[in-house]
Amino acid sequence: MTPCVNGETNTKLVKNMMSNQQNGSSPNKGKILVVDDALLHLETVKLYLEADGYEVFCATNTGGAWAILNKDKPDLVLLDVVMPGENGLDLLRNLKVQFPHIGVVLMTAFGSEEIAAMALKLGAFDYIKKPFKYCYLSDVVHKVLTKQNQVKDRNKKIEHLQTELHNKEKLLIDRERLAIVGQMAAGMAHEIKNPLTTIKGFVQLLARSADPATKMYLDIIESETNRMNQVIQDFLQLAKPKSPETKLVTINELIDEMIPMIKHLALINNHDLIVKTEGNIPPVLIDPAQIKQVILNLCQNGMEAMERGGELTIETGFLPEQGEVHLDITDTGCGIQQENFKSVGVPFFTTKADGTGLGLSICFSIVDKHKGRIEIQSQAGSGTTFSVVLPVVK
Ligand SMILES: Nc1ncnc2c1ncn2[C@@H]1O[C@H](COP(=O)(O)OP(=O)(O)OP(=O)(O)O)[C@@H](O)[C@H]1O
Ligand SMILES: [Mg+2]
Repeated sequence: MTPCVNGETNTKLVKNMMSNQQNGSSPNKGKILVVDDALLHLETVKLYLEADGYEVFCATNTGGAWAILNKDKPDLVLLDVVMPGENGLDLLRNLKVQFPHIGVVLMTAFGSEEIAAMALKLGAFDYIKKPFKYCYLSDVVHKVLTKQNQVKDRNKKIEHLQTELHNKEKLLIDRERLAIVGQMAAGMAHEIKNPLTTIKGFVQLLARSADPATKMYLDIIESETNRMNQVIQDFLQLAKPKSPETKLVTINELIDEMIPMIKHLALINNHDLIVKTEGNIPPVLIDPAQIKQVILNLCQNGMEAMERGGELTIETGFLPEQGEVHLDITDTGCGIQQENFKSVGVPFFTTKADGTGLGLSICFSIVDKHKGRIEIQSQAGSGTTFSVVLPVVK
């Protein structure tokens, strides 16, 4: 049989369709492959779908369909069931193995419950019986592509959440492992403090009667002993944190009290300090001394991350819906390298020549005890924001 449309021959019609040329519409809604050996039907479906803004490819047999599937990667296939050679169901079966994400809708004049059930079992999205109204076809196509996009979005979100979960689990395991090691080491640190005090005492005693050259060496011994003592002090605080002695305070009050000290530190390093406190922030139940220590540590880190002449911004705010107060400390410094992100806050992780890597661990531990959290946003090369988020008492 040789079907003709508007006097065109079958060959010309096939050429028209196989060229997959667009008829002026902007094909940005998705790619559709129509597989049908009934040429007139094929042409009509193509015209309708192109008018709807889809990019349409046509094949009159399964061989042509595979060529397009491999080359053009359509989003959806409209598939005739009965065709010469490999039939639509066979093609569907093989297609779902190779391209499981491509949606398939079966079209057949021999619609039966059995074929429909089989098609759905093989992974077809839907099934339409010929003859159908073309507006119905548009609806089905729209439905399938929308659903597919939703599934794609959902899969992307799931993938993202899985990666996040994996990273957080790993961080938690790392932290737990370090906490155990830390507790053991804390016992040792405690024991070191006593001999250190003795050393310091005798150094001071010797310094009293020492000549200037010896005194210089003894001073160095004393200052190094002090440094060791400070590291051990920090470490003990981390391993055995004190329970917060809480009272209701507004975060702005704390900032006000700390401004002179932070300003002084900024001035020494030639940094600008910008303070933006939001009015009407509700008070939070905190240990003021411990939260001040967090703020100081974060400001110190921010300043250390910047070349001279940087800008440190302290900002407070209230998120009524979440019932949280936040304090953001932003610097315009070097930022945190991607590969260091997961290690930041792990005890003893430092990238500084004279850092101990305990500052942030102490901050995390204190804020944890306050049932808050610290969020980090950083762009390597342009700066970092540490946000301390604390819950407001209900
Ligand atoms: N604002 C920041 N910008 C860039 N990197 C930072 C910032 N804050 C922390 N870091 C990174 O996190 C690491 C750990 O910080 P942390 O405060 O725990 O230790 P430290 O500053 O190195 O030493 P210290 O114990 O003396 O504070 C830093 O060495 C640095 O690499
Ligand atoms: Mg630090």
